[in-house]
Amino acid sequence: MRKGIILAGGSGSRLRPLTGFISKQLLPVYNKPMIYYPLTTLMLIGIKEILIIINPGEEVLFQKLIGDGRKFGIKITYKIQEKPEGIAQAFLIASDFINGNSSVLILGDNIFYGDGLIKKLKKANECENAATIFGFRVKDPERYGVIEFDKNKLVKSICEKPSLPKSQYAVTGIYFYDKGVVNYAQTIQKSQRGELEITDLNNIYIKNGNLKAEIFGRGSSWFDTGTIDSLLEASNFIYNLEKRQSFKIGCPEEAAWRNNWLNSDEEESLKKFNYNNEYGNYIKELIQLEEK
Ligand code: G1P
Repeated sequence: MRKGIILAGGSGSRLRPLTGFISKQLLPVYNKPMIYYPLTTLMLIGIKEILIIINPGEEVLFQKLIGDGRKFGIKITYKIQEKPEGIAQAFLIASDFINGNSSVLILGDNIFYGDGLIKKLKKANECENAATIFGFRVKDPERYGVIEFDKNKLVKSICEKPSLPKSQYAVTGIYFYDKGVVNYAQTIQKSQRGELEITDLNNIYIKNGNLKAEIFGRGSSWFDTGTIDSLLEASNFIYNLEKRQSFKIGCPEEAAWRNNWLNSDEEESLKKFNYNNEYGNYIKELIQLEEK
């Protein structure tokens, strides 16, 4: 069974002063805490066992919000990242949790949305013997890991924050790995910026001929909400979509209900959901009026 990891550590330095006192991943993106979005993405793929990696001193806040995951029909555990030393460090921290299984890592500040997107992610979830990453065409590839394709449109390499990007395709923050990932992560050295780079890990898979790159095409949206502008853009995006459509985005209660992960008592309690606002009304109406 594939294990899920949400990396919700990091100093959030680009979001100061907002992040001086609270984890970036607990900041609001429109009407929900940021972490609800990647958490819901994992749930919609069908991942039930999730490790959330957080900064020292922040467990009490995550416990208050998400707890052990039971209310969402999932199992959540927490581990501390003592220092923000790169995304690939997640696999060293998570090695006991992964325990020889395949895994999927999602960054706690990444938001994915689009018709057909979950289907693509589910396909990657089914592939146990290779790694799968997802590219997204952006205007500012130099901010990200960038995919270089060969003439057959296969991934040749990935370069982290290149000054001269070899394509417009950024590597997004969701990564599927086979069971070898912890061993590979152990071989990586820190980069010049002092981090264990996820790009170095992916390049190992490329060298082994074992990395697939899928593209999120037109009609898909991806936000890395790590800067103040992108946080506002993501909030505006969610606001606009939720105003126009009758569905909410990033709603773990809904994902749990749709997945049939709640027992009858838990479903009953959602019928009386105690948020006296639009979110609460959405959940109550969903349970009473919608079909799964
Ligand atoms: C990180 C990765 C980068 C990836 C990006 C996606 O960037 O290093 O390869 O494209 O996440 O959000 P960072 O958050 O370190 O700037």
